[in-house]
Amino acid sequence: MKIFLDTANIAEIREAASIGMLDGVTTNPTLIAKEGKEFKSVLEEICEVVPGPVNAEVVSVDFTGMVREGEVLAKIHPKIVVKVPMIKEGLKAIRKLTDQGIKVNTTLIFSPSQALLAAKAGANFVSPFIGRLDDISQSGMDLIRQIIQIFDNYEIATEVLVASSRHPLHVVESALIGADIVTMPYKVFEQLLKHPLTDIGLKNFLSDWEKFKSTYKAENLLELLKVR
Ligand code: G3P
Repeated sequence: MKIFLDTANIAEIREAASIGMLDGVTTNPTLIAKEGKEFKSVLEEICEVVPGPVNAEVVSVDFTGMVREGEVLAKIHPKIVVKVPMIKEGLKAIRKLTDQGIKVNTTLIFSPSQALLAAKAGANFVSPFIGRLDDISQSGMDLIRQIIQIFDNYEIATEVLVASSRHPLHVVESALIGADIVTMPYKVFEQLLKHPLTDIGLKNFLSDWEKFKSTYKAENLLELLKVR
């Protein structure tokens, strides 16, 4: 399963990329605005750092506007994937953009029927927002299960990009179900690698090492192993 960061913060993106765990990035107008920088330069900088797709969203809601914005966004960098909202005009725009070879992610998916229509329109990715469904007491994970089953039934190649993830369990459950990608805030990314028993175990190993090295009068492991 691919891991994307849901952020436009370049420091967070650089950190995740530096440990080799970052497959892509999703942004939206809200996330880019939060950075307080020029829209295009933020996307260019992200594209330089991220090895895979960088999602950038249109802000028009009419067919012509979405297509025009999508074409311009796609020209910024070959890694750009254009995010188009799941509305009637959006379905038309998806077809038009993908026919030109521009990659499209359909965003704001909240039902399996929306995912099916987006896929039929030619979307490369669909983004079901699971946290926002959980917020209104509907199961976000059930939606992911349904979409994956439908795509499997018809061998639909559109990738399921789980969005609006809020905690590590969302990521683990998505992986168990077989989602293609989860995009997550940096905080969730960090939570994925942490476990209190790992910290306790490491502390104990290091304290034992301190005792052991004084017995052997070595300052570090390399000295102990007689490496010069
Ligand atoms: O990827 C979509 C994401 O930015 C929405 O997350 O937590 O605002 O529902 P959230």
